[in-house]
Amino acid sequence: MGKRIDVLFSALVAAAAAAPVDSYEVPASVNKLGQPFEGFVSYSIEFASFPEFAGNDSIPNEFSFNLLKNLGNVMGTNPYIRVGGNTQDYALFDSSQKAALIGKVDPNRSPDYPTTITIGPAYFESYNTWPGFKYSHGLNLGLGVNRSAGWQTLVETVPLVCKTLADGKLYTWEYGNEPDLYGVSAQGPVRPSSWNESSYIQQWLNGTKQITSQVKKFCPGLASPQYMAPSFAALSSPLKEKKTWESGLNANSDIELFSTHNYISGATSPGVTLQGTLMNFGVTKASVDNHVKSYDSIFGSTNNETAPPLIFGETNSLYNQGRPGLSNTFGAALWGINFNLYSASVGFKRVHMHQGTNYRYQAWQPVDTDKATKGTKAPYYGSMAVAATLRNSATRPVSVSNIPLGTDQYEAAYATHFTASKKLARILVINMHGYNTTVDGAGLDPLPNPAARKSRAYSFHVGAQVAEGGTVRIQRLMANGSDAITGITFDGWSYNWELDAGRPVRLHNVTTGEMATVKDGRVTVHLPDSSAALLSFTKKCE
Ligand SMILES: *[C@@H]1O[C@H](CO)[C@@H](O)[C@H](O)[C@H]1NC(C)=O
Ligand SMILES: *[C@@H]1O[C@H](CO)[C@@H](O)[C@H](O)[C@H]1NC(C)=O
Ligand SMILES: *[C@@H]1O[C@H](CO)[C@@H](O)[C@H](O)[C@H]1NC(C)=O
Ligand SMILES: *[C@@H]1O[C@H](CO)[C@@H](O)[C@H](O)[C@H]1NC(C)=O
Ligand SMILES: *[C@@H]1O[C@H](CO)[C@@H](O)[C@H](O)[C@H]1NC(C)=O
Ligand SMILES: *[C@@H]1O[C@H](CO)[C@@H](O)[C@H](O)[C@H]1NC(C)=O
Ligand SMILES: *[C@@H]1O[C@H](CO)[C@@H](O)[C@H](O)[C@H]1NC(C)=O
Ligand SMILES: *[C@@H]1O[C@H](CO)[C@@H](O)[C@H](O)[C@H]1NC(C)=O
Repeated sequence: MGKRIDVLFSALVAAAAAAPVDSYEVPASVNKLGQPFEGFVSYSIEFASFPEFAGNDSIPNEFSFNLLKNLGNVMGTNPYIRVGGNTQDYALFDSSQKAALIGKVDPNRSPDYPTTITIGPAYFESYNTWPGFKYSHGLNLGLGVNRSAGWQTLVETVPLVCKTLADGKLYTWEYGNEPDLYGVSAQGPVRPSSWNESSYIQQWLNGTKQITSQVKKFCPGLASPQYMAPSFAALSSPLKEKKTWESGLNANSDIELFSTHNYISGATSPGVTLQGTLMNFGVTKASVDNHVKSYDSIFGSTNNETAPPLIFGETNSLYNQGRPGLSNTFGAALWGINFNLYSASVGFKRVHMHQGTNYRYQAWQPVDTDKATKGTKAPYYGSMAVAATLRNSATRPVSVSNIPLGTDQYEAAYATHFTASKKLARILVINMHGYNTTVDGAGLDPLPNPAARKSRAYSFHVGAQVAEGGTVRIQRLMANGSDAITGITFDGWSYNWELDAGRPVRLHNVTTGEMATVKDGRVTVHLPDSSAALLSFTKKCE
């Protein structure tokens, strides 16, 4: 498919002496693969950063709660919180430690997070601060085998996890983060170079057996543990998903979610740019498609109903915690929309965007530190636009389809249809052509003479899916440019910390309440470069 010129309409337009308008064909039915779960917009929070993101019994982090709740209010289900990442595999438990977490940063291993960590019982207070949320707690497999303190950590923390997360707060279990890298980790290997699928499975089965027996003993009312796994880092790693599955990962039929991780590229990888790497449909598509290919090689298809559903258990733009000027910009927010909706359209059921204190790709910084100020960051607004596109999937599930836009890699569009009625619900269109307004694209000092901002027309042929003359509500995601790191609004709403601690605040200097009309079976919207718009065909509250 691709760009299509409606002959009849062109004739009409030509007769009116206007340029012919290209229009894009909107799929007329639900996409069987693109059926995300409720709570699709979810998060993964770095294990060592969790106390800062969530706070504790004495000082809960309300800012984080407000931001997460905003998304929950739109989706009808709160984001699911995976607590994990590299630091879950460094954390040892010390039952006599008063502090929640004591971490030592070794800049040679990572400047961004501690690689020597002990947690005390107070760590688990952080699971009490956000009422109505569900979590997974990342258990340590990395150090859990060849040190007695590691094995003891598993034995002692499982009862704390199952007790803390009883009463409906447990999302799923996770044992080990990115075990495919244990033999080769850039932060220091925790296994010999002979580490392979068989050794992983042997230790997995041994550890999960221990977890099950602890749960039976300490939380007899709780269901037997089910896992997200294998939580591999990359398809290019020495351990492969397919071989791992075939080597018996699911021997006990306890994998409920097939979790894989993804980053589009690295923070310091050569040649990485906003336009070339992130604000780029084809690059994102290729990155996501590889995961679907790997999954399909095991399970046939992402809509295999007897297979564990495919999720991104941890993902974001650029690994090594992102890069300033790229991962923290409005351009990265636009990337995030494309990444999430594309993933939904090919069969990912849920996406956990990874967060950590001071990380350059974070959606918000939960506390003030000497490296970053507390605040809502650009990528959060991308998550909000995705949530608004899927809306309340708990009560009115939608399917997501990509609308092919032809060869321009700097734009993308997605349609959602209600799975029950099969009616067109919404279209989200993203103009990812870069536009700068600050010096060096750093988001700080305004350019004295920024170039004129182009606007492009997007015309969608909806045919008989929407009644002729029907009105379409338009909500825009806007900022000064792709290099903006603040001043972002969705439909005139700001969620910035400094306004009302992350609660929605309507700004009065942004246009809202825009409408369009379906004419000749099509709807047209103009988008300034580096912006997105959500077109809703439903009544206001659907
Ligand atoms: C709770 O959080 C506050 C603020 O970060 C901190 O000062 C306090 O030590 C924490 N309490 C525990 C038990 O860690
Ligand atoms: C399971 O792992 C622990 C810790 O390495 C070890 O002590 C135990 O012998 C293992 N059990 C089996 C059955 O391999
Ligand atoms: C034990 O751990 C060390 C470092 O954490 C690692 O280098 C080594 O390969 C491990 N040995 C085994 C048998 O897993
Ligand atoms: C893993 O390596 C061992 C030898 O170290 C070998 O016996 C086994 O077949 C390997 N497993 C796989 C899945 O390649
Ligand atoms: C669906 O997945 C199951 C594993 O859960 C597998 O046994 C089955 O072959 C898959 N179906 C297809 C059509 O590949
Ligand atoms: C925006 O600025 C960055 C950094 O100077 C530059 O690489 C990029 O090409 C600029 N983009 C546009 C669309 O001018
Ligand atoms: C956005 O641009 C306007 C107009 O040039 C300027 O007044 C405002 O400060 C800019 N906002 C940000 C966050 O840079
Ligand atoms: C709109 O208003 C907000 C809040 O008062 C302000 O921070 C922002 O700079 C204004 N934006 C523009 C483009 O003037």
